[in-house]
Amino acid sequence: MRIAVIPGDGIGIEVTLEAVAALREAAARTAMRLQFTELPYGADHFLKTGETLPPGALERLQEFDAILLGALGDPRVPDGRHAADILLGIRFGLDLYVNYRPVRLLDDRLCPLKGRTERDVDFVIFRENTEGLYVGMGGIFKKGTPDEVAVQEDVNTRKGVERICRHAFEFAAQRGRRRVLMADKSNALTFGHDLWQRTFREVAGGYPAIEASHMYVDALAMQMVKDPSQFEVIVTCNMFGDILTDLGAQIQGGMGLAASANLHPGRTGLFEPVHGSAPKYAGKDVANPMGAILSAALLLENLGRPEEARLLEDAVVDCIREGRTTRDLGGALGTREVGAEVRRRIAARS
Ligand code: IPM
Ligand code: MN
Repeated sequence: MRIAVIPGDGIGIEVTLEAVAALREAAARTAMRLQFTELPYGADHFLKTGETLPPGALERLQEFDAILLGALGDPRVPDGRHAADILLGIRFGLDLYVNYRPVRLLDDRLCPLKGRTERDVDFVIFRENTEGLYVGMGGIFKKGTPDEVAVQEDVNTRKGVERICRHAFEFAAQRGRRRVLMADKSNALTFGHDLWQRTFREVAGGYPAIEASHMYVDALAMQMVKDPSQFEVIVTCNMFGDILTDLGAQIQGGMGLAASANLHPGRTGLFEPVHGSAPKYAGKDVANPMGAILSAALLLENLGRPEEARLLEDAVVDCIREGRTTRDLGGALGTREVGAEVRRRIAARS
């Protein structure tokens, strides 16, 4: 399997190194063959060449079986233009309409919610990934004057909403999940989210064995804290999904652990930790590589390698249980040491 690796910026570089090393370790111990090609897209490349995603990059990326990304964002590019161009450019350009973000507590001790256990926090969020407020349509009128007007359009298409809803139900059906919940704000966004309401109900009609329900997104945010055990599969729009998955990351143990996959079934997917480039911690060997390693596990699962994916995941869980973690999870190890500990457990388990 050919994997494109975009370490990107900041801690993205360090955590990606450990994720690739974990993949190599798993490959060395199993029948899996992996070939990595590093691509330099990120702030350095942008500052040197003025290029964000170079011409032909999307075509090139599609030739790989998967893309592993670290994180993008660098204080030398204050408006984050390169990050938006590269990350959103790949999501939109490859039409990766599914942003799959599991929210799973790997160890009771990591949950910030009182009395909650691993059994209570185990659901997935499907975030629409190609439209909504992210399409960049709009403009600014009379910029810098007291009469300034900024318009940012929220684009919801029938096709876009339908395919993400269908994906959520298909996932539930295939994984034996009984419930799918759609979160919107149709009480205030009476056009765009009316489309979500109608489309969700229509798609749900094709899955009579799966319970379809709805919450307004503000109520969902509250319920995720109050009683996360009620959720199995959540589907929502791009912006709400962005916000809810940070909340989800926290209740599963923190940003350092959250993994994600950007998918279009049958095409090259993009796998990345939910966290950002954290410039403050860059180069200090303190970043938690587990989110990146768990994203690499999602990559393997997606390429039809569930056993090898499990190997990575179990190795991470072992490390957490044994306190072999970075400081964000209460341990005392550096990024590289955690990477080595994970590899040791991959080796021990295979
Ligand atoms: C994420 C990030 C991105 C997003 C940013 C970096 C544009 O927050 O992947 O969640 O908003 O999608
Ligand atoms: Mn985000």
